[in-house]
Amino acid sequence: MSKTYNITLLPGDGIGPEVITESVKVLDAVAEKAGFELKYTTCNAGGAAIDAHNDPMPDSVVETCKASNAVLLGAVGGPKWDALTGAMRPESGLLKIRKELGAFANLRPVTVPESLAENSPLRPETVAGLDLFTVRELTGGIYFGEPRGTEGEGDDRKSWNTMVYSVGEIKRVARVAFEWARKRRNKVTSVDKANVLDVSRLWRDTVIELHQAEYSDVELDHLYIDNAAMQMVINPRQFDVILTGNIFGDILSDTSATLGGSLGLLPSASVGGPVGIFEPVHGSAPDIAGQGKANPFAMILSAGMMLDTLGEDAAANAIRAGVKQVLDDGYRSGDLWREGNKLASTTELGDLVKTATLAAM
Ligand code: IPM
Ligand code: MN
Repeated sequence: MSKTYNITLLPGDGIGPEVITESVKVLDAVAEKAGFELKYTTCNAGGAAIDAHNDPMPDSVVETCKASNAVLLGAVGGPKWDALTGAMRPESGLLKIRKELGAFANLRPVTVPESLAENSPLRPETVAGLDLFTVRELTGGIYFGEPRGTEGEGDDRKSWNTMVYSVGEIKRVARVAFEWARKRRNKVTSVDKANVLDVSRLWRDTVIELHQAEYSDVELDHLYIDNAAMQMVINPRQFDVILTGNIFGDILSDTSATLGGSLGLLPSASVGGPVGIFEPVHGSAPDIAGQGKANPFAMILSAGMMLDTLGEDAAANAIRAGVKQVLDDGYRSGDLWREGNKLASTTELGDLVKTATLAAM
């Protein structure tokens, strides 16, 4: 009997459904060749769920996700739902599923193969061979902190959010970063704003304590977020594992993603709980949705990270090799296209990756 995994698909909005279709195409092909089975259940999420159920993340969808082995999520949000506020926003649905699944660690790996260095907004020699890995805290910090709210009228109307972390929340995500560093180049850069924020001072002290107690073999340094943002564009290759909180990680990982030329290249895994969520870092790109222009690489690579987590290493590595091969062969979606490249549609890129992935197995 071959192994079977139950996967919940949350295609979401905008280009989400298109890139999910391409990753399922690649997944089915590798599963068949590697000898395991993937069973899918598709549910609405984000704007699509607001339209269908008046709720961006219905409890029934949360239950389906909890009962599966992994969740593949496309993207949520778009202009249609932009006027909604609070818990009715598509983005709130995403935050809810991350929280409900206990996915406190968001892994965002960036690599820039030689063939993509020319696509970078930075000089090719600054980014060629780049390989960095952000561990972003995902279920705490200012995204979830209480109190939060808005009150008052006119010029006195005000809003507030709270950036809060406990020692326990910091330790568990820091552990993830140190463990990844041991498997990579053994260096962690912790990013905070400890020169201003109390919560960052607790962050830094906790990371230092944990390092001394359990991970003193790993090289550790600390940067303030403003400096880290600058270092990311001056010399990104100095980084191995970046450990940071929810909002700093959101911002810094978008910057890191674009070093390879496009946000459409960055996959992510949101893990730590019983069921992981695998989601590209890019958004729903409503301006190009439904036109076959979406870049499916980040979604396909996220499916690869899902297979890593399920223990299907050979298939996961083949997907990464397949994507790299297609890029090396010069095929690009519009976001990455330059003179001399071959422009390909979303579906064509999915087909190419499928073929190259199977060849790598
Ligand atoms: C991301 C996204 C989300 C976030 C939004 C859509 C809520 O920007 O995954 O980086 O801020 O976490
Ligand atoms: Mn983001």
